[in-house]
Amino acid sequence: MYTDLAIFTGRAHPRLAEAICARLERPLGKCDVFEFSNENIFVQFQENIRQHDVYLVQPFVTPVNTSIMELLIMIDAARRASAGRITAVIPYYAYGRSDKKDQPRVPITARLVANMLETAGADRILTMNLHAGQIQGFFNIPLDEMNALFPVSAYFRTQDLSNFTVVATDVGGEKRARDLAVRLDLPLAIIDKRRVGNNEVAEAMHVIGEVEGRGCLILDDEISTAGTIVSAVNALRQHGAAEIIVSCYHPVLSGPAVERLRSLNLREIVVTDSVPLGPEKLLPNMTVIPVAPQFGDAIGRIHTGQSVGALFA
Ligand code: R5P
Repeated sequence: MYTDLAIFTGRAHPRLAEAICARLERPLGKCDVFEFSNENIFVQFQENIRQHDVYLVQPFVTPVNTSIMELLIMIDAARRASAGRITAVIPYYAYGRSDKKDQPRVPITARLVANMLETAGADRILTMNLHAGQIQGFFNIPLDEMNALFPVSAYFRTQDLSNFTVVATDVGGEKRARDLAVRLDLPLAIIDKRRVGNNEVAEAMHVIGEVEGRGCLILDDEISTAGTIVSAVNALRQHGAAEIIVSCYHPVLSGPAVERLRSLNLREIVVTDSVPLGPEKLLPNMTVIPVAPQFGDAIGRIHTGQSVGALFA
């Protein structure tokens, strides 16, 4: 049983939480979150949340492990403050790539994090574009997964992409790219990517599909080091691609990513703000699509018990 809607943020992406609250035309809840000198995180809700429908906004962004721990502590604090229902709003779910035991003696960290969220006391999860849809099944509580395909494809529809092909960076991303291709009524190509070891080095091998003389719109779920994108762009140019647009849903942009993207001479880089993008990561040819409207609308619907699926149109 729960009553009033209450939205709070950790330290990971307060700007997004504020934008979500603006969409819902309500104030962001007051909550102290800070770290002692011994790195222990402290959380205290500064308003009554007894029996409230509480939403805690916290994408798992750098420092990733702190972001996760901070959300767990916020959930624990909300549970002990007698919140009626607690929804963890995680626009970017890190560790998504660790979703199977594909080598000997490795963890399935995406599952471990799911277990920890449940153990802390989360009642629901609201997230966006998991690395693999099956991660939903790591949770035994309800999970709603937003899809940035809708705002991103709406943006691309405003452009003339008539000579473009949508390109998946690997076979695993085929469905994601196909969904965009279908919405834009464009052909699809796939890069046959092989990952070499665990050292974040990706090597693009073949291009399946017609790209010669065509513009290419590369879509990936996330850009981390941008190694995958560099390989993809090189492969497409070797196959005669004309101009190239790169798009991704989660611009993590770690390590050398920004410099790599800067050096690629791309027509445009289209990302969302599921993770915070400081000025050092914003390139002149970058377009940032806001996700707050989707999250705000989803929270409003979850709170009032309406269909969230109705947003996927
Ligand atoms: C991999 O399976 C993902 O879809 C992305 O391609 C990957 O996370 C990108 O990582 P990076 O930018 O470091 O190549």
